[in-house]
Amino acid sequence: MKTVINRRTQLQVAYSAYTEAGDDIGMKFFIDTANVQAIREAHERGMVDGVTTNPSLVAKEGRNFREIVNEIAAFVKGPISLEAVSSDYEGIMKEARELNGWIGNAAIKIPMTWEGLKAVKKCAEEGIKTNVTLCFSPNQALLAAKAGATFVSPFIGRLDDVGQVGMEVIPDILQIYSNYGYETEIIVASIRHPIHVYEAALAGAHIATIPPNVLDQMVKHPLTDIGIERFLADYKKIPTAQEPKKHGK
Ligand code: E4P
Repeated sequence: MKTVINRRTQLQVAYSAYTEAGDDIGMKFFIDTANVQAIREAHERGMVDGVTTNPSLVAKEGRNFREIVNEIAAFVKGPISLEAVSSDYEGIMKEARELNGWIGNAAIKIPMTWEGLKAVKKCAEEGIKTNVTLCFSPNQALLAAKAGATFVSPFIGRLDDVGQVGMEVIPDILQIYSNYGYETEIIVASIRHPIHVYEAALAGAHIATIPPNVLDQMVKHPLTDIGIERFLADYKKIPTAQEPKKHGK
């Protein structure tokens, strides 16, 4: 219990530091998928401020990458992260320029390596948005901000997978960025369940990139379902009640 309270206090302190720094309030949700239908549904529900993809998510779709990207960009106006797969500076820059040319709102995902950071710096000079991916520590996030990254993506779930409490890096990164006024935005990534989103929000993270299944889990509560059923049953007992109409889902 003590650990939970300490952790919550730590998250709340980070949130205060963030709001006191005068940043704009409003948590952004990116959707962590390359499935156009899932993005469209979330978008219609007002839950899409951007999209993140990676090679694994694109491969799952079994479709042409560029076609997918064009379809998403037709209705998502926020940043769409597209990952470069080269490991050397020249290769990353070639991909970054090409991917950036596909759509007007690309953010190029670049891995956390020296070659990658060199490319991040160059992209910043050329006005190409970047998302430094595969970030696992506050020091790595500091390097990303120093290189001029637009976004940094700490992978919370993958840290949990190796026995480290992933979310603990978020307040630290927020604090470091707030100490120096870095404008790099934190995308809490590798989200696996609703508690990750809750804790990211409590910490004041700028963005959470959420898989569609987790977004679905967030809206659900058994008491909501029971409540709806009860109200409906009682409504039917009202003498003048008409049969409720079903519109859509
Ligand atoms: C998003 O930018 C990341 O690529 C994604 O969240 C990774 O998630 P995973 O660790 O569940 O693969």
